[in-house]
Amino acid sequence: MMLLTLDRIPLPPNFAERLKDETRSLHRKAEQTGFMRLLIGGRMGAPAYCRLLRNLLALYSALEPAILRQAKHPLLAPVVGLDLFRCAALRADLRALSCDEETALRSVEPLAAATQAYVQRLRGFSETGPERLLAHAYVRYMGDLNGGQRLASIVANALQLAGREGTAFYEFGGAACTAALSGAFRESLESGAADPEIADTIIAEAQWAFAQHITLFDELASQADPAA
Ligand code: HEM
Repeated sequence: MMLLTLDRIPLPPNFAERLKDETRSLHRKAEQTGFMRLLIGGRMGAPAYCRLLRNLLALYSALEPAILRQAKHPLLAPVVGLDLFRCAALRADLRALSCDEETALRSVEPLAAATQAYVQRLRGFSETGPERLLAHAYVRYMGDLNGGQRLASIVANALQLAGREGTAFYEFGGAACTAALSGAFRESLESGAADPEIADTIIAEAQWAFAQHITLFDELASQADPAA
């Protein structure tokens, strides 16, 4: 019985729908923060955008190694297989935007308090807690694969970037590939019969992640002039 559980951790049918439903209102709130409206409206200045990328880099830098450490776990193996990791792309964008990536890494400009708390939380799941890591992977990568796709051209126009320079973060191999990855991620959430306890934990953690993004966006909006 134990072996079976380790072999394949099933989630309830329609789990992807439930996860989406139960995070919908928080998604809307995140979308409607002043910081996101500035970004989607093409009115964010380069310094604020770089600050966002630096904070996201810290988040993904905590998330991705933690996922890799538990890469063989049945809940995380499908995510690893999709090759979604964003750290390299974020570093490339920070370089292309002439933001000093080292500045962020050396903490000359401190990370937002919300990011620091986020990273601390993720570190707590680095050896155990695959279901919670899956929740964070869902919030980040599904966001990047869906709504995030609209941002590439908006950011390129707002920051007057040439070609794809500075927007590697949104690049998943073209529209068809991006849609396929999003579908595959959803499918990986749908597999198998019910495990309500794991499902509830994933949903609660995804709600925490959305709420923490809202805190982060509000904090970033309050730093300097984000539209500068
Ligand atoms: C300007 C802000 C944003 C816009 C315009 C936006 C827009 C969208 C759109 C259009 C979808 C596809 C919805 C569908 O399939 O019905 C989506 C999905 C998603 N977004 Fe966003 N989004 C934004 C911000 C965010 C943020 C900040 C996060 C995470 C913190 C996020 C996480 C997600 C997730 C996880 C999904 C997948 C939902 C699912 O199919 O289960 N989004 N977004």
